[in-house]
Amino acid sequence: MDRPFIFGIPVEDEHFIGREEEIQRLANNFRYGVNTILLSPRRWGKTSLVNKVARLVASKDLIVVKIDIFPCRNEYDFYNTFSSAILKQTASRFEEWKDLAKGFIERLSPKISLSPETQSEFTISLGITPKTHTPEELLGFPEMIAKKKGCHIVVCIDEFQQVGEFPDTLNVQKRMRSVWQHQGNVSYCLYGSKMHMMSNLFQKKSYPFYKFGEVQYLSPIKLSAWTTYISDRFKRGGKLISEKLIQQLCESVEYQSSYVQQLAYNTLLLTENEVTETILAQAIEDLTDQNSGIFIEQVQSLTSYQLGFLRAVLDGIHKGFGAKEIRETYDLGVPSNITRLKQSLINKELIELSENGVIIGDPILRFWLKKVL
Ligand SMILES: Nc1ncnc2c1ncn2[C@@H]1O[C@H](COP(=O)(O)OP(=O)(O)OP(=O)(O)O)[C@@H](O)[C@H]1O
Ligand SMILES: [Mg+2]
Repeated sequence: MDRPFIFGIPVEDEHFIGREEEIQRLANNFRYGVNTILLSPRRWGKTSLVNKVARLVASKDLIVVKIDIFPCRNEYDFYNTFSSAILKQTASRFEEWKDLAKGFIERLSPKISLSPETQSEFTISLGITPKTHTPEELLGFPEMIAKKKGCHIVVCIDEFQQVGEFPDTLNVQKRMRSVWQHQGNVSYCLYGSKMHMMSNLFQKKSYPFYKFGEVQYLSPIKLSAWTTYISDRFKRGGKLISEKLIQQLCESVEYQSSYVQQLAYNTLLLTENEVTETILAQAIEDLTDQNSGIFIEQVQSLTSYQLGFLRAVLDGIHKGFGAKEIRETYDLGVPSNITRLKQSLINKELIELSENGVIIGDPILRFWLKKVL
């Protein structure tokens, strides 16, 4: 049986809704070779969007390579993942692979496992080290393949913020930028789930990736798209939900895509015939409980100062934390504590900076904190 709502994993086909403008913009960037940095809070749909656009634009002349570097811990880890993904996703057959990588693999003893049924399925473990290849050579690898094949390649790197955690990260970033910015046949789409780390990499003037490409912010999926999708899924289950309650549902989680889907699912399970406000309220409680494990993990190691800071934000204080009265009410310690407190909570992804000052961006986290703090 089909799952009525999907959350926690990238969505596709009928589960992918809205985002018409973002799809067009990103597709054009892919076609015209414009580097793009995608930014959004967690679980808004970056990976799903890139997957969608990749399927849309891919052709013989435009190859989209998708790489997830979440497990990479250092520069050469990255090069191994990067090079094998590029090889694998640009060559359709093993023979072509050998030809494309000529001049590149002779120095390696790659472990290649062919699938028993078909010669087109293979896994590669390249074993690249600083002794076999220089960083510049490796970073130039997609350009070499694009030229050989006479095509354009878009390299999409998910969880790119990992690069910011590599040892000697600034030099690694400098090397990447200096090679990539001169490539005429390859462009990049970089995105990741840790928004504040991604913002640091791309929006600080002193960082090598500053102004590397167009920064695209994901906006929330519109109410009209959610209305069609949610009411349709309720109907299929023989249940009803009014447009007003769909709007209420979306607003209660501030249109955060994954939460909308999970909350809609909770609501569907609680509904016998038609959704009521009481049912929706219960579904929000359930959503909070379902996420409490993650929240507990996020807050359990906080100091009393950090907890005090969160209490202040929950009470509607967004700036001026250094004021004596606020520091005393919320037990924030001395004024010199404040900057460090703020930064540590940003790093833990509990708070973020908005135009109006410090906020807790996750509506369900806010709801939960109000109950437990
Ligand atoms: N276009 C969409 N239509 C419907 N639901 C969506 C859409 N995009 C995202 N979602 C919802 O959000 C969830 C997360 O999507 P996805 O993994 O693409 O987000 P992400 O921004 O890459 O997340 P992360 O920040 O964890 O990397 C999906 O499981 C789905 O519930
Ligand atoms: Mg993602």
